[in-house]
Amino acid sequence: MSRIVLLLHGPNLNLLGTREPEVYGTATLGDHVARAREVAGMFDLEVEDLQSNHEGELIEAVHGARGRCAAIVINPGAFTHSSWALHDALAAYDGIVVEVHLSNPDAREPWRRTSVVAPVATGSISGFGGDGYELAMRAVAARL
Ligand code: DQA
Repeated sequence: MSRIVLLLHGPNLNLLGTREPEVYGTATLGDHVARAREVAGMFDLEVEDLQSNHEGELIEAVHGARGRCAAIVINPGAFTHSSWALHDALAAYDGIVVEVHLSNPDAREPWRRTSVVAPVATGSISGFGGDGYELAMRAVAARL
């Protein structure tokens, strides 16, 4: 049984650390990935990670996880609110899907209140900053 977790980040998340730090904090994407990997290791999970600003690249990564990865932890960035293609790709994936957001989109602009990813996620974690990745890895480990 696979212990691989695919950690995906969508558009603009490569700018974490300097992008709107009052909203997203000062930790870089590298910091978040390192922390997620460290927590995953405590549960004998192996993390593969990819950040992309391109919808198709994220979709192909989801396809590549089919039958291979036990779980996908994904912060889809703004694709959360618009990408039905990402929705469909995740719907065709049969493992655990955890949607993570650093901020709480429900407490922000009205257009952020719709997630097209949430209906195809096993569960969603929002608003806890980088702790969300740790919580996600713990959730994955508990379900495996
Ligand atoms: C985000 C929330 C999204 O609304 C936004 O577009 C992002 C980051 C978050 O982690 O809080 O890029 O996914």
